[in-house]
Amino acid sequence: MLRIGMLTSGGDCQALNAAMRGVVKGICSKRDDVEIYGFKDGYKGLIYADFNMLTSKDFSGILTRGGTILGTSRQPFKLMRVPDKDGLDKVEAMKHTYHKLNLNCLVILGGNGTQKTANLLREEGLNIVSLPKTIDNDLWGTEMTFGFQSAVDIATDTIDRIHTTATSHSRVFIIEIMGHKVGHVTLHAGIAGGADIILLPEIPYDIDVIAKVIQKRSAAGKPFTILAVAEGAISKEDAKLKKKEYKEKIAKRKYPSIAYELAEQIQKKTDKEVRITVPGHTQRGGSPCPYDRVFSTRVGAKAAELILNEEYGYMVAMKKGETTKVPLAEIAGKLKYVDPDCSIIKEARMTGISFGDK
Ligand code: F6P
Repeated sequence: MLRIGMLTSGGDCQALNAAMRGVVKGICSKRDDVEIYGFKDGYKGLIYADFNMLTSKDFSGILTRGGTILGTSRQPFKLMRVPDKDGLDKVEAMKHTYHKLNLNCLVILGGNGTQKTANLLREEGLNIVSLPKTIDNDLWGTEMTFGFQSAVDIATDTIDRIHTTATSHSRVFIIEIMGHKVGHVTLHAGIAGGADIILLPEIPYDIDVIAKVIQKRSAAGKPFTILAVAEGAISKEDAKLKKKEYKEKIAKRKYPSIAYELAEQIQKKTDKEVRITVPGHTQRGGSPCPYDRVFSTRVGAKAAELILNEEYGYMVAMKKGETTKVPLAEIAGKLKYVDPDCSIIKEARMTGISFGDK
């Protein structure tokens, strides 16, 4: 009997279901003696032994369904070694559940924090295969994560819709796109949506540069400007602060988010009407785009291959268009940032896009 535990952890995204379907179809195409334990709401289900026994039927018809049939929750890695409110040792509890159910392995779908905990469980002796989930596409060791392309599609659609109204009203529009630490979604949606200014956490901006770009566009007979701004965009001034100081500053910020702060500054400096759009969690919602359906099916099937071969301790990744495995020990805890000197940034600059820095 092959006993597999499965969980989805962290923020949800499109194609989680499609990826799990890929794993189950891959395994069940080769073996009949399979038991699947679906843990509810991420690591919480593993800690408190909250699970459902599932069959391959439960994974049929979910290729296009957004969200996760298992539910998810954020269980910060830094709190994993901190006992819960009843004094329960979470790591020991997860190991206990795993051994009590006599699992052969755990399939873990998640982003950066999730991979760190997956690696911790590997270090504790559990058999782990993980899958690269996140709209942010910021996992080290893989060129792609599922959810990313779907989120880019949605954010691009938002910018497209803003474009028509922006031209009618001669306004400045700020579209705030998800990504606190990294700007991959903003960069891609910004270029795809024809944004004039793109602000990323990796390239600190200068508000005077932004104001100049807007004024220059006006002078050239282009009365509207579109800014695609990542949630975590940061000014040059703030980038000089220590992490702790910056966190404290953000906590005291009178604006709900960066877009609102920028709007006030731009209005003051340019005298232009500014409007804000925040697509927020719509970027993680709905059906996965075709790319994500294909990609998640592929990484799911690859995970099945690893499990059938009893190759554990890996995250399935994409390198040069091929699925592959990367050791969890090598990738856990590392983020893949936008490289300010990479060619996509250079090409965007060549087409006149400003990153608000120079
Ligand atoms: O990591 C995915 C992500 O959507 C980020 O882009 C975003 O900053 C964050 O999650 C939002 O988290 P939450 O859903 O907990 O508000």
